[in-house]
Amino acid sequence: MAASLAADSAGGARLFVDPAVFKSSVHGQVGFTCTMCHQSISDYPHARVIPVDCGGCHSAAKDELEGSVHGRVHPTAGTIPATCADCHGSHDIRRPADPQSAVYRLTQFQACAGCHSDREKMARFGQGGVEAVPTYLESVHGRALIQKGLSVAPVCTDCHGQPGTGAHEIQIVASPASPMNRAHVIETCGRCHQGIVTAFQRGIHGRRLAQGNADVPTCVDCHTEHAVQPITSPGSSVYPSRVPGTCLRCHEREDLNARYGLPSARRESYLGSFHGIALVSGQLTAANCESCHGAHDILPSSDPASSVAPGNLVATCGRCHPGIGAGVTGGKIHVASVREDINLFAYGVQWFYYLLMAGIILFAAGMIALDQYRHRVVDPRRRGRDRA
Ligand code: HEC
Ligand code: HEC
Ligand code: HEC
Ligand code: HEC
Ligand code: HEC
Ligand code: HEC
Ligand code: HEC
Ligand code: HEC
Ligand code: HEC
Ligand code: HEC
Repeated sequence: MAASLAADSAGGARLFVDPAVFKSSVHGQVGFTCTMCHQSISDYPHARVIPVDCGGCHSAAKDELEGSVHGRVHPTAGTIPATCADCHGSHDIRRPADPQSAVYRLTQFQACAGCHSDREKMARFGQGGVEAVPTYLESVHGRALIQKGLSVAPVCTDCHGQPGTGAHEIQIVASPASPMNRAHVIETCGRCHQGIVTAFQRGIHGRRLAQGNADVPTCVDCHTEHAVQPITSPGSSVYPSRVPGTCLRCHEREDLNARYGLPSARRESYLGSFHGIALVSGQLTAANCESCHGAHDILPSSDPASSVAPGNLVATCGRCHPGIGAGVTGGKIHVASVREDINLFAYGVQWFYYLLMAGIILFAAGMIALDQYRHRVVDPRRRGRDRA
């Protein structure tokens, strides 16, 4: 008895539709009656609410959704991942340009978070990842949108939706139809970062990508996916101290070096150089890979247009070493080990630094030892003598 009362009151609450909310919705405003959506409810009071078919009137949206990851019946969950009402609401649907709309550009991420941040719900559909929304909100793009109110910053559907049909045709990223698939990342980021894409396409990575090469990086390999940070942030994957790690993920792979006939030991030969040593010890102005090779229009040193072609080294090194001569730039830049370095000047400077550092450490250790000796041995003896 108690149970059925509870059910009744719960049911009563559920069956209440706030007329004011409905009236200000887009459908209320055009004078919709309840039965235009709840077509099978003519038998008041209703035992149940018949699922609403929005697609009867919005057939384009329905067709688009049916072809998307959200509209296809999931093989193990047995239902479709998202209905129209999951994203738009039911009695409070508004035009997307209305700031109160559930899919309004600046707050759209909340509609997606309803599922994509819900671990249990996503697990039912075999998806483990629930970090997309919080990671995005912390990124340069999310902050630009939410904190700066920069409405041209990308929202979820700018990156995942198809141009034109936006949210309704989202595909899994692994599908070549997704704008975030490797095959389309460049053009999608390029909708806003066209200048960078043009430079990237001039470089060796971009040229090879256009040929279908699967080993070269796209934007997201160097900048990450949702976690894109401003390049001036220490958290950025392309912050000066982190550039070597980002490039070396590939360039220290010996299988890749062999496949493309590239020199090996890029990690050792950079980290063993003055610049590598200085960078690791925290001197961010020392040259990292990007300082010499560029970021987007990287070319092999054999290409005369490359920033590291022999003819351009004086200019490239000269950005930080004004007046540097061909004698210095002519030395080996990537020194696999100091012994291999044939540039005596560079060799000498490197050893000077090693010896200087060792000297400083020995000197400091000696001072500490002498100080301890005084405290523990000399002072007690002196006190003993004074007492006697
Ligand atoms: C734009 C279409 C639309 C109109 C018009 C509409 N509804 Fe609904 N209604 C929905 C949707 C969508 C749901 C959620 C059910 C579902 O997920 O299929 C719903 C659910 C309900 C429910 C179940 C409780 C709930 O909120 O989930 C009741 C009761 C209801 N509607 C009553 C009404 C009444 C009364 C009116 C007229 C004032 C009305 N509806 C007008 C679309 C509509
Ligand atoms: C009986 C036909 C009908 C049904 C059913 C219906 N709608 Fe609508 N919908 C309309 C009409 C008519 C408009 C107003 C079009 C206009 O003025 O631009 C509209 C407007 C909208 C808008 C705003 C469109 C815009 O361009 O700003 C959205 C979003 C929307 N409906 C979503 C839904 C959803 C979601 C459902 C199901 C819960 C639904 N509609 C059910 C007919 C319908
Ligand atoms: C700047 C473009 C961009 C924006 C904005 C963006 N994404 Fe992504 N998203 C990506 C890329 C790139 C991938 C991964 C592609 C890959 O794995 O190669 C991805 C992957 C995903 C995945 C699948 C993998 C995972 O992490 O679970 C989901 C789900 C997802 N995004 C949801 C969202 C949601 C929700 C938003 C809005 C809060 C959003 N994305 C905003 C670019 C973006
Ligand atoms: C995954 C979330 C999601 C689902 C599911 C979804 N929509 Fe949308 N819808 C949006 C977003 C976001 C917009 C805002 C414009 C954009 O980015 O495309 C939108 C825009 C619209 C519009 C405005 C005109 C347009 O096409 O841009 C209508 C009408 C609409 N949706 C109806 C529907 C209907 C009907 C369904 C179910 C068949 C549905 N939507 C399912 C997120 C969704
Ligand atoms: C009602 C729940 C729900 C809502 C709301 C929702 N999604 Fe999803 N979405 C899912 C589920 C479940 C899947 C996984 C389906 C599958 O793997 O077959 C998914 C898959 C995705 C994928 C593909 C992930 C991959 O593995 O590549 C992307 C991207 C995505 N959603 C983006 C969005 C965006 C953007 C929004 C908001 C506009 C949104 N979703 C709203 C439930 C939802
Ligand atoms: C090989 C790694 C790599 C790839 C691939 C890459 N970037 Fe970059 N990107 C960098 C580095 C390193 C910087 C930092 C440059 C600096 O410190 O001046 C950077 C800087 C940027 C900046 C800041 C502006 C600037 O030039 O300083 C933007 C925006 C950017 N990249 C977008 C992109 C886009 C879009 C793509 C895809 C077309 C892309 N990047 C591909 C490494 C890469
Ligand atoms: C809808 C437009 C849009 C799209 C699509 C977009 N971005 Fe951006 N991006 C921006 C805007 C706007 C900013 C500047 C935000 C700010 O300064 O606060 C930005 C900033 C950046 C920055 C930081 C630049 C700096 O100077 O520190 C990087 C890196 C970046 N985006 C990479 C990407 C990558 C990679 C993609 C594709 C996965 C992408 N963006 C897609 C609009 C976009
Ligand atoms: C995702 C893997 C990957 C990342 C990350 C990457 N590269 Fe590459 N890079 C390659 C591959 C593969 C080639 C070989 C292309 C070819 O020669 O066909 C290449 C080619 C090059 C070349 C030209 C080599 C030659 O002589 O052909 C240089 C220089 C280079 N990369 C520097 C960099 C720098 C600097 C970074 C970081 C800012 C970087 N790469 C990041 C995969 C990567
Ligand atoms: C001080 C400038 C400088 C720095 C820093 C630097 N390089 Fe180089 N790099 C060069 C020069 C000059 C060459 C060509 C001559 C040589 O091999 O010594 C070269 C050659 C290469 C090559 C061989 C392909 C070619 O174009 O000849 C690769 C790959 C490469 N560098 C990757 C990297 C990576 C990855 C980093 C960071 C870990 C890095 N470089 C840091 C200047 C630099
Ligand atoms: C982004 C700026 C930058 C670029 C580009 C650069 N360097 Fe340096 N370089 C530095 C800094 C900073 C130091 C000081 C490191 C230290 O304190 O040990 C340094 C140190 C050196 C040293 C050790 C002797 C000294 O002056 O301290 C040599 C030799 C050197 N660079 C040669 C080169 C050559 C050759 C190139 C071009 C292939 C080059 N550098 C490009 C910033 C740069």
